[in-house]
Amino acid sequence: MTRLASPTADAALPRRVAPPRLPQGVTPARVRSFVRRGRRSSLTRDRMEHLAPSRALPVGRFDPASVFGRVAPLVLEIGCGHGHAAIAYAAAHPAHDVLAMDVHTPGLARMLADAEAAGVPNLRIEQGDAVVFLEERVPAATFDAVHLFFPDPWRKQKHTKRRFVSRGNLDLLARALRPGGHVLVATDQDFYARHVLAEVAAHGSFTAYRTERPAWRPTDGFEAKGRAAGRTITELRLDLGD
Ligand SMILES: C[S@@+](CC[C@H](N)C(=O)[O-])C[C@H]1O[C@@H](n2cnc3c(N)ncnc32)[C@H](O)[C@@H]1O
Repeated sequence: MTRLASPTADAALPRRVAPPRLPQGVTPARVRSFVRRGRRSSLTRDRMEHLAPSRALPVGRFDPASVFGRVAPLVLEIGCGHGHAAIAYAAAHPAHDVLAMDVHTPGLARMLADAEAAGVPNLRIEQGDAVVFLEERVPAATFDAVHLFFPDPWRKQKHTKRRFVSRGNLDLLARALRPGGHVLVATDQDFYARHVLAEVAAHGSFTAYRTERPAWRPTDGFEAKGRAAGRTITELRLDLGD
């Protein structure tokens, strides 16, 4: 692993502007790292109805021991899409537990069907915004690792605030990780890799390394598309101090 030098300046980042004052009792709209998408097919509805109950988290505070029925190293994948990476991780690490999250129902429904076929008992799902989940339901020092594979890059400057890796979300990840925990990030966008490094350097709780691509992660999806388009895949590991 190569330790990366901290970027000395984050000139590419937008200046922080004070939010407008709101009337008392009015909560500001949350900037989201995702867009809501359309309708659900009957296949998606059917899969969610039949397969989600055995793998979806109960409402309320997240209690891994009761959810998984054991205490084991625990990984959270944020933005799991159709879940290929989460299923592959769960299959390759039967002694670990995996919670895979996304906001989009069709991907989760497909993941549930594939997880049944793969027979991975150590995988659970949660549908929703990972930011809200981390803020409201996750006790401190819960996860050993967080995986963030091919996050939406939000290329335009005006959308920078939507990028999942941000100082605010690094606070949430630092709180949710156990001491010595880490975050894996993969991206096929060089500007996003630079953005991650700048945010991590400004945040100060993590040390960033360029790392090897995990052998267990399938090569399909955004990784394959990025390579086919001639883009480089950057694999980063962000270590939280002990
Ligand atoms: C570009 S896709 C990558 C999906 C998957 N990791 C892959 O490599 O195929 C990014 C995913 O992150 C999800 N996402 C973005 N922000 C999220 C958030 N705050 N909470 C949960 N999921 C989120 C999106 O819904 C989308 O499915």
